[in-house]
Amino acid sequence: MNKPITLPNVTNFAKSDEHRSMIHSLIPGGAHTYSKGDDQFPVHSPAAITHAKGVYCWDLDGNKYLDTLMGLTSVSLGHAYEPVLERVKEELSRGSNFSRPGIIEREMAERFLSLVPQHDMIKYAKNGSVVTTAAIKLARAHTGRSIVARTAEHPFYSYDDWFIGSTDCDFGVPREVQNMTVTFKHNDLEDLERMFNEYPGQIACIIGEPEKWQVIEPDFYEKAIAIAHKHGALWIMDEMITGFKTDYPGSIKRLNAEPDMATWGKGIANGFSFCALTGKKEVMELGGIHREGEKKLFLVSTTHGGETHAIAAGLATMDVFENNNVIEHNHAIGDHFIKGLNGILDRRGLQDYFDITGFNWSVGLIVKNAQKQPCLFYRTLFMQEMIQRGVLYQGILSPCYSHTIADIDFMLAAFDASCDVFEKALQDGYEKYLVGPEIKPVFRKFN
Ligand SMILES: Cc1ncc(COP(=O)(O)O)c(C=O)c1O
Repeated sequence: MNKPITLPNVTNFAKSDEHRSMIHSLIPGGAHTYSKGDDQFPVHSPAAITHAKGVYCWDLDGNKYLDTLMGLTSVSLGHAYEPVLERVKEELSRGSNFSRPGIIEREMAERFLSLVPQHDMIKYAKNGSVVTTAAIKLARAHTGRSIVARTAEHPFYSYDDWFIGSTDCDFGVPREVQNMTVTFKHNDLEDLERMFNEYPGQIACIIGEPEKWQVIEPDFYEKAIAIAHKHGALWIMDEMITGFKTDYPGSIKRLNAEPDMATWGKGIANGFSFCALTGKKEVMELGGIHREGEKKLFLVSTTHGGETHAIAAGLATMDVFENNNVIEHNHAIGDHFIKGLNGILDRRGLQDYFDITGFNWSVGLIVKNAQKQPCLFYRTLFMQEMIQRGVLYQGILSPCYSHTIADIDFMLAAFDASCDVFEKALQDGYEKYLVGPEIKPVFRKFN
């Protein structure tokens, strides 16, 4: 018989409260990505993390949590994963930034491109926004067109104006720039054609995450990319989330797709800051300096883009993926969680109050209210209850190589126990149980 699982009761947030009360006077937003912000967490939650190892992390008050989003999905193997750390330390002992490119840049280029045979060239950066914006710039230069089309449903591609100006958070973005981004329905060929017909000869490129929320038909990208090309536009596949998760290296392989460019980040260097843009030669070489007499395109130029130890982290991460069944392991973890969730929801008769979204490589959960509608108040309450039971949970499990079945059983036990409070809240109202305000939509007009 399985040992009963003892759940912690995390209630001391004194140091977190002090941190929350002052950090906003030092750092606008209190964090460096929107999803780490205080407006994305309940009040009873860790305000800052002191350290993490494997799939556990610790907060300012010494509380320990099972990590489920793993550094916004960037930590694909585990926190402070030894084989990656060893390689990083070795690289660091030889310096991290030089006045000419580090030789490791070539090693990475050859290795990464061998994983993406559809593409011929690669460019590095430290953040995903930089490479998605670089792809947009190349597409505009290649086509001589201005309009960018993006899938409407996907949450985020960049903090740059071309994307953020097309959300409710358009404050500070010139109207002219806002008007240069249009949207279409993901996974919908008719809507794609509709959009091209609405903006004839004006769309430079399509950018979208290859897989999100919905199952993609095996021939979708063959058809969709053919439509884009017929209308003279390029296709950019944003593999920031799917890369090293849906498959190795990502959906480009799983779906046998041939986009003109692809962008990579998050899980490819186990949390280290290494992102990449890959693409076809005829597009990528526009960013080069050997096209004598041709217009020079200023592509990505960043002092830290070739930082050697982050690239080494990427190489070490690839070694682990290639020498172990990381993808299979991570998918099995996701499957175990989905099965467990369904079991709990069935047993409790709660299926109508939650939607399990996504796939085994990223398991999302939508929390609903008594009217069976998605609800941020109940979502915040559910996060609060999971955190109290030692699980740092934002509604997504991003399985990593260090998650074990036992970790997921622990998470499921916390989920089951949190449902006790959730059920009471459905009866009595969330107000009786939720401490502090609800989490806020990220893309909103007003604070
Ligand atoms: C699909 C996608 N593209 C791009 C980005 C931007 O990446 P970064 O935060 O590294 O700039 C994100 C980040 O959340 C993302 O999810």
